[in-house]
Amino acid sequence: MTTPATQLPDDPDAAVAMLLDPPFVRDPYPVASRLRNMAPVHRTDRGFWLVSDAVSVEQLYRSPTMRIGFGAARLDQDPQFADSPSLQLFKRMLPFMDPPDHTRIRRVLAPYFTPRVMAGLRHYAEDLVDRLLDRLAANGGGDLVYDFANDIPVAVVCHLLGGVGEEDQVQCRNWAEGLVEGVHPECTDEMQRKADAAAIAFGAYAERIIAGKDGSGDDLVSCLVREHRRGNLDMQELVGTVTTLIGAAFHNTRNHIASGIYELLRHPDQLALLRSDPDLVPQASEELLRYDPPVQMTIPRIATTDVVMGEVTIGSGELVAGLISGANRDPARYADPDRLDIRRGDGGSISFASGIHSCLGIVMARLETRIAIERFVQRFPSARLIDESPEIEPSAQPLTRGYKQIRIAL
Ligand code: HEM
Repeated sequence: MTTPATQLPDDPDAAVAMLLDPPFVRDPYPVASRLRNMAPVHRTDRGFWLVSDAVSVEQLYRSPTMRIGFGAARLDQDPQFADSPSLQLFKRMLPFMDPPDHTRIRRVLAPYFTPRVMAGLRHYAEDLVDRLLDRLAANGGGDLVYDFANDIPVAVVCHLLGGVGEEDQVQCRNWAEGLVEGVHPECTDEMQRKADAAAIAFGAYAERIIAGKDGSGDDLVSCLVREHRRGNLDMQELVGTVTTLIGAAFHNTRNHIASGIYELLRHPDQLALLRSDPDLVPQASEELLRYDPPVQMTIPRIATTDVVMGEVTIGSGELVAGLISGANRDPARYADPDRLDIRRGDGGSISFASGIHSCLGIVMARLETRIAIERFVQRFPSARLIDESPEIEPSAQPLTRGYKQIRIAL
């Protein structure tokens, strides 16, 4: 699993290439650590900065002078903007917005994502996970990614949204996959075409769901229709929000559930500890998120003034991305960072981001991933990996990370 020391790059740009270019390095963590040791704040030969130590990634997320670079670099300036449905849609999606629009939409959404509201999803999520575990049990095993984790997040968020039928969820997942292509830092024409096709279909679908609501229900789309009537968000923002919530809920949660269980199966001592003390599940889930974060890199930001990071000044107008995989293994923040330790008390990680763009779905993600991990672990004491070295999902990289398939027997 670990990249042998001799294969590690000798210069920062070679490390960046290993992290960003296909074929993606299977184990990115030694490479991210090498980059962090050589140049924690590095101007890449691709023209953007990559920061990889915990303090700088946190600063990138929290600095008020850092704006969403994707917006500045592509949405407003890309010559394709006016004709591109995906760029038009991204502009109305929360992760790609800057204040004051971001502040306004976030304020509208926050009350619907509180621990109290999310507690109302518990029974639904538990039933869903149990049904999926029944299916695995009936088959004597299967694929952790597509026979289990893949079916959880979109179902849970759609239950909250209301109006998205089970039969439509496969399509929603496909559109979410298509849209992600457009956020790739080096998006090709082909990727742009896929993202545009997904944006047209996904946007039209969201419009139909919204049109089906008269604003009287207590599901989230009905609540948002009422917010729209009060003038708190316009129709395009409402469409952008519905697609954002389905899209943002999907990949990261799926990958965390599947990769998290995979890591437990690879670390029998930690698995035994968790089985003997289920109260450790919340802590274990956070440690698994630190150890193998589904979001490996931040959405790029743009510096709106000169910013000092580490010992370097990043000039106004420069694009900067943060390497979460580097920050989460920073020895200045975590003792023995390459060790999976579900009893670790280092205080979480940066895997759900930080600052104004920190994950809106954090309570939902924790609810469903903890249910999935706890119930899997308790129900299948003899679970084992069929393939110890599963293949990385190629399309997900480099912003996100997950496996293509993780075959298990029970
Ligand atoms: C383990 C699962 C998840 C992880 C690791 C995760 C991680 C993240 C990260 C790192 C960001 C910030 C990206 C950036 O600005 O660079 C983010 C933003 C966001 N996440 Fe999650 N996420 C997860 C699950 C969810 C779920 C279930 C939802 C449900 C709706 C969700 C909704 C959002 C939204 C709406 C944003 C944008 C927030 C904003 O820009 O203000 N996420 N997430």
